[in-house]
Amino acid sequence: MIIAIDGPAAAGKGTLARRIAAALGLPYLDTGLLYRAVGRLVLEAGGDPADPVAATAAARALRAEDFARGDLRDAAASKAASQVASIPEVRAALLAFQRRFGNENGAVLDGRDIGTIIFPEAEIKLFVTASLAARAGRRHAELRAKGDEVTLEAVRADLAARDEADARRAAAPLVAAADAILFDTTEMDADAAFSRALALIKARAG
Ligand code: DC
Repeated sequence: MIIAIDGPAAAGKGTLARRIAAALGLPYLDTGLLYRAVGRLVLEAGGDPADPVAATAAARALRAEDFARGDLRDAAASKAASQVASIPEVRAALLAFQRRFGNENGAVLDGRDIGTIIFPEAEIKLFVTASLAARAGRRHAELRAKGDEVTLEAVRADLAARDEADARRAAAPLVAAADAILFDTTEMDADAAFSRALALIKARAG
């Protein structure tokens, strides 16, 4: 079984997807990490993440250990990820890996285009959203807990800019699949989101 979980940044997709995967005994892939790793590799080499040649070379050379590194969640990696993600050749280079991962034993995958491009035939598709204010508040609390002194306003501006870039790009823009279940977590905490999503999935999967 393939469960596709898409939606904008900081909507709670990752936490939800990880918990659903554990509950159903399925492997889990955070596909944002692939784009983050490509962006980080380009930065590390002194390149520009918006340069298609550098970004595509990094995507083609990506190894498993690159997306297990610890520096993929900061603001620089987030921005670089969004830049490389708009390059069609980068997306093409990462597509086969994602399909192989899912096709091995089934999986829960979270990202932006899982239900539309990577697995359009997924049995279950959730499009997870929350208001910008709720998403910024959660991401801000997360970063502060890690000792990052970033302001709420900066987090909000960063999320808004990435949403805009992800939704407007020509290559696999962020959009809900026609057959996705819309799941708004603005008023839910992580436990409520998990139990409601699991109930929806069980109902949909029969
Ligand atoms: O989910 P995330 O915040 O870790 O994603 C980082 C960036 O990668 C985000 O700006 C959009 C992009 N991305 C994408 O284009 N397609 C995916 N399947 C996953 C992430």
